Amino acid sequence: MSISPARTVAFDILLRIDQQNAYASELLHSERLDKLAPTDRGLAMELVMGVLRWRSRLDDEIAAAASRPLKKLDAEVLNALRLAAYQLQVLTRVPPHAAINDSVELVKRAQKRSAAPFANAVLRKIAEARTEPVQPSADEAPVSFLAREYAHPEWLVERWVAQFGTERTRQICEFDQRIPTTSLRLENVDTERELTSEGVKLAPGVLLASSRTLVEGDLTRTHAYIEGRVFIQDEASQLVAALVGTGSRLLDCCAAPGGKTAAMTWRNPAAQIIAAEIHEHRAGLVRKRVRAANVKVIAADALQLPLNGGFDRVLADVPCSGTGTFARNPDIKWRLAVGTLSELHTKQVAILRAALQQLAAGGRAVYSTCSLEKEENEAVVEEVLRDTEGYQLRDCREELEKLRATGELKWEDLDSLLNGRFLRTVPGVQPCDGFFAAVMEKR
Ligand SMILES: C[S@@+](CC[C@H](N)C(=O)[O-])C[C@H]1O[C@@H](n2cnc3c(N)ncnc32)[C@H](O)[C@@H]1O
Repeated sequence: MSISPARTVAFDILLRIDQQNAYASELLHSERLDKLAPTDRGLAMELVMGVLRWRSRLDDEIAAAASRPLKKLDAEVLNALRLAAYQLQVLTRVPPHAAINDSVELVKRAQKRSAAPFANAVLRKIAEARTEPVQPSADEAPVSFLAREYAHPEWLVERWVAQFGTERTRQICEFDQRIPTTSLRLENVDTERELTSEGVKLAPGVLLASSRTLVEGDLTRTHAYIEGRVFIQDEASQLVAALVGTGSRLLDCCAAPGGKTAAMTWRNPAAQIIAAEIHEHRAGLVRKRVRAANVKVIAADALQLPLNGGFDRVLADVPCSGTGTFARNPDIKWRLAVGTLSELHTKQVAILRAALQQLAAGGRAVYSTCSLEKEENEAVVEEVLRDTEGYQLRDCREELEKLRATGELKWEDLDSLLNGRFLRTVPGVQPCDGFFAAVMEKR
């Protein structure tokens, strides 16, 4: 029996994420997906993202219907079950028999023929609602309730409740489970007119005047997108780039894929800008994205840059856990381990120390992450400033007030964007990724 191309591709991607720790964001932009017809591509993406977003709830559903523990199931069988369970429980427009048959065939195709009757029985039980739907109970302790209701790992929810309180954690978790909006950064109004004439419908952004939200249409097929005149970029990421401000020599020391370098270049068309990225292939992404003559992209380690300092603006947008981006990257939820946070902390401290060394007197560095975790944010900045002489932490409120005064920042409630002297966006409080930023100045 033939299996629908969308389900086949979705299954293969889910299996690779599960077995090889591959990243959904990369696999969903691969050639395999590009070769599908547009409707199949849309369905494959929806299936992969949906299963990753709701994975623990689907597993609860499967466990309630299965006669053996999930741990004993082969990855091929479990992922085929998750794929169908998602369609049965969430994507209810899909006919149940199509979802079930294709998953049973996928089990056979994965050389697990002997598990096909088991998969069939489990899925029929879920479809016929012979198992009680697994509903989290509001009487449960808040942490386990939120973790189960919104399909998040309990250890992370526990940390967030301690840091943000229960209600704000609920807002974050709820936001993470929704399909995120696509935000763009516009460099001029003519581009907006051009996009409209090509069938792309836009609405104003929420945080920034230069930002728009995609309402309708395929931006990636427009001339402006192909020619690099419009950029898909979350509004919080745009705001961090705006914090970098202006200068005559700028350094972006962790640059790929180049979203913030591009925004810095737009603000500083006459400055000398260096964008460094450790991985050569990722440095290539920045070169492709930022083609202005005043930008030099180098493949180099931020810890050993072949540069002699003297920069008046430095951005260190460091590698991080990405816990502020679960709406876009739900696979991270299931990959992250608590030990990773302290490894990242060590790396981030080293990069920030090296970034500060590149500043000229009076110059400013912006340190940023798309993480909600203190170890990667406040704790990094505080540790570096504690044992490095000659730098002071600036108050982000002042920077945000300046952006409000020029009309660039539209968001009125500055308090909600701040945590002490730091910038902090919180998914669900603002409709964007969770970013952290600190501004430091060399005396
Ligand atoms: C969070 S991403 C940067 C995103 C980018 N600023 C943007 O807005 O598009 C961090 C980047 O730093 C790179 N990286 C990691 N360690 C590095 C190092 N030691 N030196 C330079 N780049 C590094 C990673 O490969 C990754 O591309």
